[in-house]
Amino acid sequence: KITNVSAMEILDSRGNPTVRAYVTIDNKITGSASVPSGASTGIHEALELRDGDDKRYCGKGVQKAIANIHQRIAPQLVGMNPFNQREIDMAMLELDGSKNKEQLGANAILGVSMATAVAAAKACNLPLYKYLGGVGAFRLPVPMMNILNGGEHADNSVDLQEFMVMPIGAPSFSEALRYGAETFHALKKILKKKNYATSVGDEGGFAPNLKSNDEACELILEAITQAGYTPGKDISLALDSAASSFYKDGSYDMHWSGTGKKTTDEMIALYQDWMEKYHIISIEDGLDENDWDGFNKLTAAIGKKVQIVGDDLFVTNKEFVQKGIEQSSANAVLIKLNQIGTVTETVETIQLCRKAGWNYIISHRSGETSDTFMADLCVAMGGGQIKTGSACRSERIAKYNRLLEIERELTSAALFC
Ligand code: PGA
Ligand code: ZN
Repeated sequence: KITNVSAMEILDSRGNPTVRAYVTIDNKITGSASVPSGASTGIHEALELRDGDDKRYCGKGVQKAIANIHQRIAPQLVGMNPFNQREIDMAMLELDGSKNKEQLGANAILGVSMATAVAAAKACNLPLYKYLGGVGAFRLPVPMMNILNGGEHADNSVDLQEFMVMPIGAPSFSEALRYGAETFHALKKILKKKNYATSVGDEGGFAPNLKSNDEACELILEAITQAGYTPGKDISLALDSAASSFYKDGSYDMHWSGTGKKTTDEMIALYQDWMEKYHIISIEDGLDENDWDGFNKLTAAIGKKVQIVGDDLFVTNKEFVQKGIEQSSANAVLIKLNQIGTVTETVETIQLCRKAGWNYIISHRSGETSDTFMADLCVAMGGGQIKTGSACRSERIAKYNRLLEIERELTSAALFC
């Protein structure tokens, strides 16, 4: 039985407060988990409760969420069965009673939801990925490594938020990680030589002031080649445009690079041109989160060749994903625990993806901690793709290192494809 639930305020990778929750079983076994936080958030995400007290952390304190855990969630959960994750999560949803978890805060609810699973796994003497995924938990993911940052994750001249490398030709997860890390280092050398800054953005990718968005793709292809790999064969490119962040008054305003305004059709034409030229196999949030018609068109135009991923579009919410499936608005979903706010609902969204034959990618947030829950979740759910940043910044590397550990533990049972 759950005997204690508590929480504390810690800092995330951007120096902003976040929630770390603890759940104790039978006064003996304690599991903990820390909640991440986004910057380019979708408007329909579950609510992250912040104190709004300007005298503390610029209003970003999470003491209210912590108090909700101590005063409201703990009394409800103490005495409950920690192995029934769904019952626990539903109890918190009922207690909250709102549609977007604004009463208790999605950060309060998710912290406790994850900590429950961590404690339960410990009590069963199982690694978290096995507790969550059972005998089916053996597939290691291809990392989508965000080695060049722009948009709201960096103060530079690049409009698109993320330029990722996907080592699709690697024989194993550890080799894929090596391919990606070597490309990251090759890119650093190229940037240095061209007198571009090699400082990094929120997710550990470089954030140079490039002349255009095209140049980002060109430099990455050059880096792949210099690292000794073949673009399109060993390593392909993936984008997260996070287009909602530059969609204004009906057009896509690529103002940071000075590219200017584009219509939905022009954006689709741009992606069509780029996917051939730059070996792009995945495009996330290529259009604004409310541009459903645009997404339908984009998917019809290139969805057979390219993975079309909805992040802000779906916010890990099965209602939005259902709508997307009905309209063929995409063919993949970015999965972020804190967009929806419980482990159970996250798994339900993944189950919906599987039913529709869609891909799903387990993802970090731009504000992270050293927590590695998502790495275990990724192997447990077996989707085969993870998005957790570049080859630097410890909060990103913690996830990759956890996957290396899992790979080692699984030995020859590990599957990578
Ligand atoms: P966020 O960015 O965590 O700032 O929302 C990540 C993403 O858009 O995928
Ligand atoms: Zn995104």
